[in-house]
Amino acid sequence: MTNDDASAGWDAVADRFAALRSDVGTDIVLHWSRHLPRGGAVLDIGCGTGVPIGACLAAEGFTLFGIDPATRMIAAFRDNVPEATAACEPAETSRFFDRRFDGVVAVGILFLLPEAAQAAVIARVARALCPRGRFLFSAPRERCAWQDSLTGRRSRSLGEAAYGKLLRAAGCEIVGCHRDGGGNDYFDAVALGA
Ligand SMILES: C[S@@+](CC[C@H](N)C(=O)[O-])C[C@H]1O[C@@H](n2cnc3c(N)ncnc32)[C@H](O)[C@@H]1O
Repeated sequence: MTNDDASAGWDAVADRFAALRSDVGTDIVLHWSRHLPRGGAVLDIGCGTGVPIGACLAAEGFTLFGIDPATRMIAAFRDNVPEATAACEPAETSRFFDRRFDGVVAVGILFLLPEAAQAAVIARVARALCPRGRFLFSAPRERCAWQDSLTGRRSRSLGEAAYGKLLRAAGCEIVGCHRDGGGNDYFDAVALGA
């Protein structure tokens, strides 16, 4: 692992992560996806191996795009969800944000980024969403920081109030908060506009 590892340590732990990843959160993502137009375009930020989230969304008939800067994660994603369009890119600079999406999902990723990068990615997502498009992301509701158990890197949630403020400034509004079976919190935001 080097300092210029764009995946912040995730490439090195890709196999261990894949072995440990359960189905937790899939029910929340699937429920959220029912708000999206049938067959709509969905971007999965930090898509990992595509199992379980990307594979479920593709099976539901969405036109799926996945980005992840970890080469081994994106290779697994391409194997597991061959119908998706994938790129080995970080959210901060991904060219996929030139497109428009009906939905954007980010499970277990936003809080890996430094605070300024989280704000920048939220703004990028908001600009890429279609009017009334939805953004689902996981992060603890409380502002907090911790060390990731796999990568040893620092994670930080900005907390519900700060995420709400950033989303409002970008033209989105939090319309729901959910907790999965593993105790992880999810924010469901909608893009306001025509
Ligand atoms: C905890 S895993 C979650 C993977 C997947 N979303 C899931 O739910 O199984 C975090 C993922 O975020 C990716 N990641 C790390 N930094 C990123 C960045 N700057 N932009 C996009 N993805 C990133 C990692 O490579 C890793 O695949």
